Amino acid sequence: MEQKISKIEKDYSEKIQKAQSLKELDGIFLALFGKNGELDLLPKEFSKLSPDERCRIGPLFNAVKQELEKTIEVRRNEIREQSYIKLVDEKLDLAETTQIKQRQGHLHLATQFKKEIIDLFENLGFYQFDAPHVEWDKYNFETLNIPKDHPSKDMWDTLYIDTSKLGVEPGQMLLRTHTSNFWSRLMEKGQTPIRAMSFDRCFRYEAVDARHSHTFNQFEIAVVGENITMANLKYLSDCLLKTILGEEAKSRFRPKYYPFVEPGVGIDSLCVFCHGKGCKICSGTGWFEIAGAGMIHPNVFKLTGQNPKKCTGLAWGFGPDRILMLKHGIEDIRYFLEGDLKFLQKY
Ligand code: PHE
Repeated sequence: MEQKISKIEKDYSEKIQKAQSLKELDGIFLALFGKNGELDLLPKEFSKLSPDERCRIGPLFNAVKQELEKTIEVRRNEIREQSYIKLVDEKLDLAETTQIKQRQGHLHLATQFKKEIIDLFENLGFYQFDAPHVEWDKYNFETLNIPKDHPSKDMWDTLYIDTSKLGVEPGQMLLRTHTSNFWSRLMEKGQTPIRAMSFDRCFRYEAVDARHSHTFNQFEIAVVGENITMANLKYLSDCLLKTILGEEAKSRFRPKYYPFVEPGVGIDSLCVFCHGKGCKICSGTGWFEIAGAGMIHPNVFKLTGQNPKKCTGLAWGFGPDRILMLKHGIEDIRYFLEGDLKFLQKY
């Protein structure tokens, strides 16, 4: 028995010293102390020993057991220390990290465009004013010279808010159909002169398809002050066109009816694809409409408590989503709201 114990001690001490990894040490530990391990089985044979022998073997067994346990622990610490030194010694190559392909985010196409336009008009002295999306009929229609039940309301398919629980008359609260509410609000506040802009969401009761969306952006400017004329309107629309479509961009004004402007115009841009020759995109006309505009109607001045004899004003609004579709050949307006990764990564 004594020899057996000494052999175990000798063999395993060597094995422990040779072990190179913690995993290897775990294996040795199990072979010794685990269920049916060498040192686990041995005491079962003690019953065969005489009481004298047992008195000698018992302490010897315990001493060897403790010794081997200790040796394993010491070796375990050595291995840990070595792998730590190895880690510290390894040089960190920072250049290596640049080889990992990083996924980088960027601003949405509509936001990039917004920034570009806002920057341009900020340089021209315009400030941003954002009006509420949930709006009163008063600012979306009434003060813009569109009285209750007037047929011109049909120009905008409106989404009305259910106000039955709010104690508000039906038809008074809506999702704004255009950004023009921002300047009816400013005029009513009497904050003239005005040189303001808004680039923001609007909503219409539309059947959604590739060209129509219930939620879309508009960019609108309004200037109110002394001696504001159509010439200012023409200059500002040319500034915008040249910025977004390039230096060779050309515009034309066409008479168009909007209840809140007089005269009202539709601003057309020379088709950037066929340069006026006529193509599929401009339906063969050589032009495509980009904005509605005009000189602010005297009635709007009166309805917002302003004196139309003292100042005049201009306004125009357009749909940037449409321009972006034309510029980039985007076929479906729904991409703007969908968060489709392929679309987002492309622009
Ligand atoms: N608000 C109009 C629309 O949404 C556009 C417009 C703005 C027209 C300003 C004239 C002046 O269709």
